[in-house]
Amino acid sequence: MANAFRVGPGGRLTGRIRVPGDKSISHRAIMLGALADGVTRVSGFLEGADAISTMNVFRALGVRIDGPEAGRVTVHGVGLDGLRGVDAPLDCGNAGTAMRLLMGLLSGQRFPSTLVGDESLSKRPMRRVATPLAAMGADIETRDGTPPVRIRPVDRLRPIDYVMPMASAQVKSAILLAGLYAQGTTSVTEPAPTRDHTERMLAGFGVKVRTEGARVSIEGGQRLAATDIDVPADISSAAFFLVGASIAEGSDLVLEHVGVNPTRTGILDILKLMGADIALLNAREVGGEPVADLRVRSARLRGIDVPPALVPLAIDEFPALFVAAACAEGRTVVTGAEELRVKESDRIAVMADGLKALGVRAEPTPDGMVINGAGAAAFRGGEIATHGDHRIAMSFAMAALRASGPVLIRDTLNVATSFPGFPALAAKAGVGISETDAS
Ligand code: S3P
Repeated sequence: MANAFRVGPGGRLTGRIRVPGDKSISHRAIMLGALADGVTRVSGFLEGADAISTMNVFRALGVRIDGPEAGRVTVHGVGLDGLRGVDAPLDCGNAGTAMRLLMGLLSGQRFPSTLVGDESLSKRPMRRVATPLAAMGADIETRDGTPPVRIRPVDRLRPIDYVMPMASAQVKSAILLAGLYAQGTTSVTEPAPTRDHTERMLAGFGVKVRTEGARVSIEGGQRLAATDIDVPADISSAAFFLVGASIAEGSDLVLEHVGVNPTRTGILDILKLMGADIALLNAREVGGEPVADLRVRSARLRGIDVPPALVPLAIDEFPALFVAAACAEGRTVVTGAEELRVKESDRIAVMADGLKALGVRAEPTPDGMVINGAGAAAFRGGEIATHGDHRIAMSFAMAALRASGPVLIRDTLNVATSFPGFPALAAKAGVGISETDAS
């Protein structure tokens, strides 16, 4: 089986491409569609393993879901109290978003559930969600803070007014979903803005969500009315191409229909601070989410101190940003990004190792990295261990555009969790990528 990428050195990115649908929005479309009264039609759905895991969990819970077929999914909502329990564990695969949001949603049900995940997800922290849910009266148990997660039914959840210790959209969303099943008003305050897709989509389903500054509140018991959802292309998937076209001389690439929700555009702000040439064209709003076409042309990047306030707004894009920093003139310093250590892999350690393997002077710190950009020289060829992390694999595929020799990227099967068809689309844009068996 092809479980690695071999990427030839050099190349430039040109043309127009559309990357797959937004992962965060695809998960939420299934979840809210399932809880709604009526039929929700989704287009642009991400047919990646993570969103499919969510879909299969809701099928197991008794929801009829048709598709996906060419990005189209039809969810036959069962209403707020219509889910049915199952004896078997619910498998979230590699998807942290699925597990954490489900913890909130399932805490309010009248049946017990068990949530499990793959090897990577089984190591990720779940107490950040279990603790506030327990404060709401949920009967929820983890194995030393990690999956499996066991949930037993309780009479009623109590609302809370929770101040989150970390900036996490997953924790915020889990509490808001549990809040639908609590009597009274549940509030969450975040230490820094995080992606607000749950709030926006709940509003699209007719649920009143109040946002006052950093505090979001929801009244329990509100019913969801089915709606149609057009999922924009995922800016987190576009990020690899934004970096690739910036660093590969002679590039001029348009990424179509990309979601540019201001809680997700930290990557654009950071790359622009580094001197990138990115233009937003044809800005529009689609189903409550801002969308634009992004034109990116190669540019001479310079190293910067990344403003910590932008970190949560670009949290999934740091693997790609570290590659950009390695190609910049001068030093880039990232701080306040300790959350990167508990993603699909420890993205600080794994990226620093990979960059060093390609000859970059990169020093990991507890909460970020210091990268001494090599400017024009950038990378030598070499081998990368991705630790099964999709975003590590795709970031190093872009690094090859500025390498002096081929780059072999091992353990790439999980690329399909967020970006099915990545090698073909990257090749179409101009990356010299092929799939290979490197076991
Ligand atoms: C996500 C939130 C982020 C992000 C993840 C998806 C979401 O995680 O890293 O890929 O869909 O809510 P945190 O909110 O835990 O930082």
